[in-house]
Amino acid sequence: MRHLLNPLDFSTTELDKLFDLANDMERNPAKYAEICKGKKLATCFYEPSTRTRLSFEAAMLNLGGSVLGFSDAGSSSASKGESVSDTIRVISSYADICAMRHPKEGAPMVAASKSGIPVINAGDGGHQHPTQTLTDLLTIRSLKGRLGNFTIGLCGDLKFGRTVHSLIHALTRYENITFIFISPEELRVPDYITEMLQEKNIAYKEVIRLEDVLPTLDLLYMTRVQRERFFNEEDYIRLKDFYILTKEKMELAPKDMLVLHPLPRVNEISVEVDDDERAVYFKQAKYGVYVRMALIVTLLELELPLN
Ligand code: NCD
Repeated sequence: MRHLLNPLDFSTTELDKLFDLANDMERNPAKYAEICKGKKLATCFYEPSTRTRLSFEAAMLNLGGSVLGFSDAGSSSASKGESVSDTIRVISSYADICAMRHPKEGAPMVAASKSGIPVINAGDGGHQHPTQTLTDLLTIRSLKGRLGNFTIGLCGDLKFGRTVHSLIHALTRYENITFIFISPEELRVPDYITEMLQEKNIAYKEVIRLEDVLPTLDLLYMTRVQRERFFNEEDYIRLKDFYILTKEKMELAPKDMLVLHPLPRVNEISVEVDDDERAVYFKQAKYGVYVRMALIVTLLELELPLN
């Protein structure tokens, strides 16, 4: 039985297959409309979410399956002190696959070790968010036509942003990618990540000003400042509006640079940018459904329809 806990759990060849399947699901939804008939997805969310949970649920419903779950730790038995290990043992007899989000780093891994069904890490604390990474990679591959040979700027909260951590790890496996980390000093990407890049001889640069590097980017990945992971509100208030991508700043960017954002957006992208055709974050959220459909079918090891 396979889980998805870390963005590197699938090889790049397996990812290509997954993305081909996701693209086919987008083109031919009817072909897959019954493939999960009789199967159940449990969404166990101990932390707030809109896109991830609902896109998982939409994915399963698009495949003809059903969903059950909880969207808040307070309404689950976690509030009575139940461990994730016990919860997953029980859920293993109610559902066929589980997507779990948890504020504690590593909780989905602990759950997977006791689970009788595939577990998908839907975000664990400030650590990883592999299905957002699948979404990001599918978006880049579908809209840019390639994974590799580009310069990507990651901007905002690079310290606490788990989507950033997962995406960097995943991209290290592709050729000729240059990373530009754009953040205030306090929100720099963690040392373990820059050390990993140095070990692999992968080019990266850390800068504070977005304007200086915008003209050099093929992709700009914006992120919000992760308020819930700050230790004090004062620091959050000081840093929250450090970057605001505006129409004027977009003029400095190449004509074919894509702007991605895992969402939710707070202030870091001005709404006027939404009309720019380079702003693809809402398309990205849509790709999140197709890639989760492909992931569910793959982890459940279902036979694919022939045509
Ligand atoms: C992200 C997350 O939960 O880490 N959201 C998402 O799943 N699309 C990003 C965020 O919360 O900032």
